[in-house]
Amino acid sequence: MNRFFLGLAAVLLVSGLGVVAFSQRPWLPLENVEQPVPFSHRVHAGVNKIPCQYCHEYARRSRTSGVPPVQRCVGCHGSAVSGGLLPITRPWADHGHPSFEIRWNRVYTLPDFVKFTHRPHINAGLACQTCHGPVETMDRLVPVYEINMGFCLDCHNKRGATQDCEVCHH
Ligand code: HEC
Ligand code: HEC
Ligand code: HEC
Ligand code: HEC
Ligand code: HEC
Repeated sequence: MNRFFLGLAAVLLVSGLGVVAFSQRPWLPLENVEQPVPFSHRVHAGVNKIPCQYCHEYARRSRTSGVPPVQRCVGCHGSAVSGGLLPITRPWADHGHPSFEIRWNRVYTLPDFVKFTHRPHINAGLACQTCHGPVETMDRLVPVYEINMGFCLDCHNKRGATQDCEVCHH
């Protein structure tokens, strides 16, 4: 038993609410996320065949994939100042400030007590779609799989990857 499990056990015992919190799993991917700009993966990754990692360039290297900065859009759409992005960003952009970022809302989250990094998964040759579904067909990004411990363990089992609690939990 490490501090994580003792801590978790304490929380569950002390607050009856723990049961409710875990049964609702507040960290599950969200179904109805509204984005400030109606960005379409179907148009970009599907119709125009832009590779996932052109925009999510950190997936191979780092802990997160990250969502691309506006700088990535500007290369194809022109800047907010030069007008290309203006029509699509008008609803929220503060035009007084030419350099801005779009505040995308997150779809996928995991609780803090889980360690997940993209790198070993991408290096093992897993397609993004294995966990995120056919993103290139989606106008609005929606989760296809419920990403819970069973989802991780099923695949780890099949692929001979780790089952060790300590590797996935702090
Ligand atoms: C093994 C399953 C798996 C694979 C394969 C995978 N992802 Fe993910 N992805 C996740 C999980 C789980 C999260 C949530 C991570 C978190 O909240 O810390 C996530 C989060 C993300 C996010 C949100 C921002 C972030 O980095 O947390 C983006 C963007 C993303 N993935 C893109 C990709 C792309 C692009 C690929 C393919 C190059 C890919 N993913 C492959 C499981 C996967
Ligand atoms: C590699 C080039 C490229 C990049 C990078 C790019 N786009 Fe696009 N985008 C396109 C193309 C091509 C279209 C389709 C234009 C058309 O069909 O007339 C498009 C269309 C759009 C549309 C209209 C969608 C529709 O329904 O037709 C929006 C909104 C948009 N992009 C936003 C963005 C945002 C936000 C980013 C940055 C996160 C971005 N784009 C990055 C090439 C790109
Ligand atoms: C032109 C740039 C671009 C391309 C290409 C692209 N994405 Fe994205 N991606 C974005 C933007 C912008 C967001 C944030 C808005 C949204 O969620 O739709 C995003 C969000 C995501 C998320 C959700 C992140 C979160 O909030 O948890 C996942 C997963 C993801 N992309 C996977 C992919 C996969 C898989 C591909 C290839 C099939 C891909 N993306 C191709 C720009 C791109
Ligand atoms: C579709 C299959 C698949 C899914 C789903 C998956 N993984 Fe993995 N995972 C792998 C493979 C394959 C490896 C690489 C094993 C290797 O390199 O030896 C790996 C490696 C890892 C590692 C690194 C292990 C080490 O020894 O360094 C961690 C941590 C991890 N996964 C956590 C997760 C978590 C957390 C989830 C669920 C959110 C998850 N994985 C979902 C297939 C998967
Ligand atoms: C491959 C990664 C992985 C491994 C190995 C793993 N877990 Fe998890 N675990 C997760 C993820 C992801 C979550 C959060 C998602 C969820 O709700 O299931 C989680 C959630 C939990 C929770 C929170 C309660 C719940 O069900 O929501 C507990 C407790 C837990 N794990 C204990 C363990 C123990 C004990 C082991 C070792 C026998 C273990 N985990 C091994 C990935 C893993």
